[in-house]
Amino acid sequence: MTKTPLVEQARAAALSAYAPYSRFSVGCAIESVDGEIVVGANMENACYRLGICAEISALTAARQAFGLAKVARIAVAGGHVDPDGTLAGAAPVTPCGGCRQAIYEAADLSGIDIEVISANGDGTQTMVSTIRELLPHGFGPASLADAG
Ligand code: THU
Repeated sequence: MTKTPLVEQARAAALSAYAPYSRFSVGCAIESVDGEIVVGANMENACYRLGICAEISALTAARQAFGLAKVARIAVAGGHVDPDGTLAGAAPVTPCGGCRQAIYEAADLSGIDIEVISANGDGTQTMVSTIRELLPHGFGPASLADAG
């Protein structure tokens, strides 16, 4: 399968992950409606539960660069870093539940059903979904319409 540039940016970002505990490096690349790209990677902590996912890291960068309402496409890739310094792994990495919720927030703001490309570490396999497929019947900003 063709390696898309967005997937390659996610794979490259994974090399900057700080994942000494899980040894599972994840990278995320986010493309705006205007073609601008930001990246992020997972960052773990000695207090394990404080680690953050690559998607959250990239979404905060997207917020700074162009805003959540302009998020159009997201690529995620993960695996282990080989001794030669490349990301490797067989199974495509789909966003965890918490990250789906964070992506849903951006999608709900804009009305864009954000495309999510899940890639394996090798970059040889991709699975393309939308956030509404990954999180059907989600709860987002629009769900708060009946708040007082
Ligand atoms: N991880 C991500 O960065 N994104 C996901 O969607 C799944 C999991 C990270 C969290 C943790 O640092 C490592 O992968 C192992 O779970």
